[in-house]
Amino acid sequence: MKKEKEHLMLQEILEQERVIRDIVKKYVDFNSGITYFEEFKHKLRELRKVDRVTFLGCGTSYHAAIYGNYIFEEFVDLPCEVEFADEFLRRKTVIETETMFIFFSQSGETTDIISAAKKAKESKCLIVGITNNINSTLAHLADVAINTLAGKEDALAATKTFSSQLIILALLAVYIGGLNRKPPTISKRAIEEIKVLPEKIKNIFSLQENIKKIAEKYKYIEQLAVLGEKYHFPIALEGGLKIKETSYTHAEGFSAHEFLHGPKALIEKNFPVIFFAPNDSVYQENKKIIKDLQEKEASLILIATKGNKDFKFKDILYIPESLEIFNPILSVIILQFFAYFLALEKRMDMDKPRNLSKFI
Ligand code: AGP
Repeated sequence: MKKEKEHLMLQEILEQERVIRDIVKKYVDFNSGITYFEEFKHKLRELRKVDRVTFLGCGTSYHAAIYGNYIFEEFVDLPCEVEFADEFLRRKTVIETETMFIFFSQSGETTDIISAAKKAKESKCLIVGITNNINSTLAHLADVAINTLAGKEDALAATKTFSSQLIILALLAVYIGGLNRKPPTISKRAIEEIKVLPEKIKNIFSLQENIKKIAEKYKYIEQLAVLGEKYHFPIALEGGLKIKETSYTHAEGFSAHEFLHGPKALIEKNFPVIFFAPNDSVYQENKKIIKDLQEKEASLILIATKGNKDFKFKDILYIPESLEIFNPILSVIILQFFAYFLALEKRMDMDKPRNLSKFI
């Protein structure tokens, strides 16, 4: 790939606006207001029979799988569960035939994903592979293969492939929800919002200088917590992973309320916490935890929705107002920049961190 920026990771973060546009162009018809996945053309009978969905992935792709679980329960109204591919593979599993398995893998070659897909296939379930490599082993194994259209990702850290997994999931949930006769109102609003999403992503790009300054300030920290609830739980996990793998700083993602059950003991004056608290259905509850952390003098970096007047401290980064389900696509980009700039400050090779390979 032609390197236009100094680092591949930065270049790939900045490609996300284009990637989202390409995906939306392929799957959304704005005239009729529907999403359509031609990939299911020959499996529509099987798809209509599905009565539960299991999402599987590893690492970043596992975080996308959690988002998938949440959005499918909301839009498709089917019971869902999410699993690490390795755990699914190595324990005894009881599989119901009408389960649809959705496997996520940027590379489509991750060993545990491939083995897990083979295991699921034995029970004659519908297998969907969501991958950035349509010629991969996963794509060939799956009954339905969906291309995330992110273009080759060369930096080790997954960035554009993660947001592409999220948007594909959102569109897929709208599509399958429609087949299940979910009232069109909910999907109509989602489709309107999708139209303006790329512009909002561009808006996040303009925060780079602010994020860089915050990263500069935090370059000597040894550990930090990343908190988020509901749709931001997987984003908190992803933030923790991204920071660890690119800057070797010990960062852990938690669901905000789960954090109170033990990890909160870590909090003392100046303990760094990144908190995702956009305007959404869990904002009021999050607000209480943030106030509590403020009282304990934690050092907070807040990701909130533009116009939020509840908090006045220094390190607040604002995302544009959006639908709850799309907030993560905007806020994860802030975390990707933060991980990138922190690694840059620490003079780490974020494109090729030690001990890791693009797929294992
Ligand atoms: C992503 O930044 C990581 N390097 C890693 O967690 C990765 O997502 C994981 O290994 C799964 O890879 P895959 O999506 O290619 O299957």
